Amino acid sequence: MNALNRDFKILTRLYEENNKEKVNSDYHRLNFHLMPPVGWLNDPNGLCEFNNEYHVFYQYSPFNAKGGIKFWGHYKSKDFINWESLDSKVYSDQPYDCHGAYSGSTLVHDGKMNIFYTGNVKNIGDYDYINSGREHNTVLIVSEDGKNFNNKKLLMKNSDYPSNLTCHVRDPKVFKENDKFYMVQGARDKEDVGQIIVFESDDLINWKYINTIKSEEKFGYMWECPDLIELNGKKVLIISPQGIEADGIKYNNIYQSGYYLLEGDFKTENYKLNNFDEIDRGFDFYAPQTFVDSKGRTILIGWMGLPDIDDYYTNPTVEYNWQHALTIPRQLEIKNDKLIQIPISELENLRKSEVKLSVENNIYHEGFDTFELIINQNEDKDLDLTIKDGLKIKYNKNDNLFTLSFNEIGFGRTDRSCNIDKLENLRIFVDTSSVEIFINNGEEVFTSRFYPTKEQKGIDIKGNNLDVIIYELGKFNIKGE
Ligand code: FRU
Repeated sequence: MNALNRDFKILTRLYEENNKEKVNSDYHRLNFHLMPPVGWLNDPNGLCEFNNEYHVFYQYSPFNAKGGIKFWGHYKSKDFINWESLDSKVYSDQPYDCHGAYSGSTLVHDGKMNIFYTGNVKNIGDYDYINSGREHNTVLIVSEDGKNFNNKKLLMKNSDYPSNLTCHVRDPKVFKENDKFYMVQGARDKEDVGQIIVFESDDLINWKYINTIKSEEKFGYMWECPDLIELNGKKVLIISPQGIEADGIKYNNIYQSGYYLLEGDFKTENYKLNNFDEIDRGFDFYAPQTFVDSKGRTILIGWMGLPDIDDYYTNPTVEYNWQHALTIPRQLEIKNDKLIQIPISELENLRKSEVKLSVENNIYHEGFDTFELIINQNEDKDLDLTIKDGLKIKYNKNDNLFTLSFNEIGFGRTDRSCNIDKLENLRIFVDTSSVEIFINNGEEVFTSRFYPTKEQKGIDIKGNNLDVIIYELGKFNIKGE
């Protein structure tokens, strides 16, 4: 342990302790989502199952709710309901990561956690920080026990990446295929074309650049947080591209997160990227990451937030010294070449009381603070829902348009839409200040923050021939908070 590491740990604990009361006095603290103990959270990092425990790391800036120096915060759980909040693990304590331990992934191999991340360095001077003045180093930490993370090694520097790239090369995701290891990293080239670069290794330490993957036509200037996975026999490339213009109801957020199906060979130029599709249609979703658990499930967790949104919408939690959260975990499948997201089954253990209703046309239920709402539409007709006085969900059969909108409780969030051929069912998770809407068994998802008061309750449903179930939901049990 070096002195910086030691003191960052002490300071983080102290800051968490000193802010506990203020943070926890916020009604909008979430009940069943992972949040920073204090300060700012962004991307999920290093997701893995290790010795029968799920580890969720995340980009964490404890000292500033609007973002600052990035460490890796840490939660773990055996069942996704009972969590332990642990000391931050990866600190920026070396010359090659002194301005942030940026995003990355964990590969569990030979009974060890191999953590790969980007060491961010910003030099002082008159730089544009795109082509000069910035280092993005690839760093490895090997943890034998999931508790000690002191064994750091610098693996690659910008000079080890292809020379057509800018300084922006980050977010290593590592996986194993046929006895070889592969790493994908997000990149921006000198012509401002977003892409990913692929490395290969036999030992997780020595990496060789082998390929670049990009779309036929430029699609944004930077691809962040790549993840290349195999799902139901298909290769899926998940990316978070920046620099995409809005196109009707598509790409309405400042940055996007979506996926391509990749045909052919990701290791050579014989690959093809099919259409890009957004993973989530809501206001607050970015930088998702997946991992495969011992049950063989591919589980995705996203950041329930976005960078650089302040000109558009805000989060009043900042007044209580914290901001952002992670999404609920979602199990992924590919059906008819489409990515499907299903809340993991463990979340059913949060269910408390249950209300079953048959809706002929209108119904009002006083609701709960936090709940899951399931609606089955027996006929494909218009549907109109109002939750907590200000969250509106509308399905317009004529236009096949599904819309999520907010009044002032959206804090600047207006509306987002997508096309649905036929609305069959909805599964909606409402926490104190978030909503996740799963349409037609996870074909489309809308994730958003919103900020009703404690008094704003109620579920108002206008529809035809619906079967409705409302479950009151309980809280995560978080030890060490
Ligand atoms: C995505 C991202 C990553 C980077 C991290 C820094 O939100 O910009 O590309 O590693 O956040 O916190």
